[in-house]
Amino acid sequence: MEPPTHPPFNVERREVDERDSRVANRQDWDRYADEYQATHGQFLGDIGFVWGPEGYTEAEARILGPLTGRRALEVGCGASQCSRWLIGQGATAVGLDLSFRQLQHSRRIDDATGIPVPTVQGTATSLPFQDSSFDIVFSSFGALQFVRDLAETIAEVARVLRPGGRFGFSITHPTRWMFPDDPGEDGLLASQSYWDRTPYVEVDEATGEVSYVEHHRTLGDWVDLLAGHDFRIVRLDEPQWPLGHDRVWGGWSGVRGQFTPGTAIIAADLDPR
Ligand SMILES: C[S@@+](CC[C@H](N)C(=O)[O-])C[C@H]1O[C@@H](n2cnc3c(N)ncnc32)[C@H](O)[C@@H]1O
Repeated sequence: MEPPTHPPFNVERREVDERDSRVANRQDWDRYADEYQATHGQFLGDIGFVWGPEGYTEAEARILGPLTGRRALEVGCGASQCSRWLIGQGATAVGLDLSFRQLQHSRRIDDATGIPVPTVQGTATSLPFQDSSFDIVFSSFGALQFVRDLAETIAEVARVLRPGGRFGFSITHPTRWMFPDDPGEDGLLASQSYWDRTPYVEVDEATGEVSYVEHHRTLGDWVDLLAGHDFRIVRLDEPQWPLGHDRVWGGWSGVRGQFTPGTAIIAADLDPR
């Protein structure tokens, strides 16, 4: 019998350091990758770039600016669907992900589409690339909410971007932190402080080990972190849930999407000096 993708767990709020966040999330994404790709792969598209469960695409949003001839790095690339789309638009792209199993799916789709994306297994807090080697760094719901050391991550992004380069990323909208992760009406009742940054932690019932972690930052935290690393924010998109879009993805759904944003997309340019 296949092991369950998510062994029974208890939810807690507690501090978790970077190492434990990384170990837990790597194991979790390795366990979950097959189910994730089976469930969401068609919606993502093998050569497709959506910024989140609303289905808002980069073709509509143009968060990343001009693509032709640009060198891009995708952080938390999963199966690299977004990078493959960028390559189709004339960019070059490299993907980085923590999970080996996610990268195996990337290789599978490379073979199926004939559009290979070079990838590397690694973590967002330590990017294995030279200074100023990319015009664009981006992440669609990738690593950013899984790392404890976000300041180090933003510093790494700034280091590998050329002056004037663009950083574009999507995250769970910070206001979502206040609500239970429930796609139904119960998910509309605020039950937790927006300002409480204590991480969301799943703890394996059998072993007591941390098995999954998400870290929360307020919108103000994001502005401070980006400004503090010489970025200038040029866009904040909060895509509305489209009428008739009946997909449910975790806590995202049309029921909640009518009232409250699920995704925040930020574009920021590195100081050109
Ligand atoms: C929700 S998926 C998003 C991937 C892809 N953009 C998509 O839409 O399918 C999050 C990805 O971030 C990766 N990830 C989590 N923590 C990471 C870290 N510290 N460094 C790099 N990647 C990480 C996971 O392995 C996973 O593939």
